[in-house]
Amino acid sequence: MIIAIDGPAASGKSSTARGVAAAAGFVYMDSGLIYRAVALGFLKTGLQSTEDDAEISLRRFQVEVTCVERHMHVHIDGVDVTAELHTPQITEMASQVAALKIVRKRLFGLQRGFGDRYGADPGIVVVGRDMGTIVFPHADLKFFITASLEVRAQRRLIELHQVGEASSFESVLGAIAARDRQDSERKIAPLKKALDAVLIETDKLTLADQIDMILGHVLEQSNSM
Ligand code: DC
Repeated sequence: MIIAIDGPAASGKSSTARGVAAAAGFVYMDSGLIYRAVALGFLKTGLQSTEDDAEISLRRFQVEVTCVERHMHVHIDGVDVTAELHTPQITEMASQVAALKIVRKRLFGLQRGFGDRYGADPGIVVVGRDMGTIVFPHADLKFFITASLEVRAQRRLIELHQVGEASSFESVLGAIAARDRQDSERKIAPLKKALDAVLIETDKLTLADQIDMILGHVLEQSNSM
């Protein structure tokens, strides 16, 4: 079974997806990590994020994905970089490289291959911006998780404080709004809800509520298979 979960930055989709995958015994794939790994590769090669540079840059490093304890890990030139991908610099660069046609084309096969392989057995939860619309239009279940900008900024602020990073509410809100714009307004594979995705608004929900809601759909789907 393939469960596709999309949504904007800081909507809680990754935590929800991880919880669903753990409860169902499924593999978890966060496609954002692959874009982040490519961003790291770009930063290392020192090239700007334009279509022409991207073509050159993509030839200079190798991106691979593996499955470690039911979580997708990303490797650059054979080195597992999964734990290094959440710096503000990579976050900014990832949003830029994700708007490039050549990058999306190259990463499509990597994501589709990994998802289909584990979707068959034991099942997989895939998370991103275009999982239900482009990469896995054939997913068995699709969800679009969202929350208001203010709630997302508040959640991100708490996460940042937990890792000792001091930021103001205003700057976090501004950064998320800018990423929303970049991810939704790009020409190629913009963030949008698939027509057949279930919309989950999380402003008033807890993480446990979100996980339970999706698991309810999974159970229903398994019974009808
Ligand atoms: O989910 P994230 O913040 O880790 O994603 C990093 C960037 O990659 C973000 O700007 C959106 C982009 N992305 C994308 O365009 N398509 C995906 N399937 C996943 C992420």
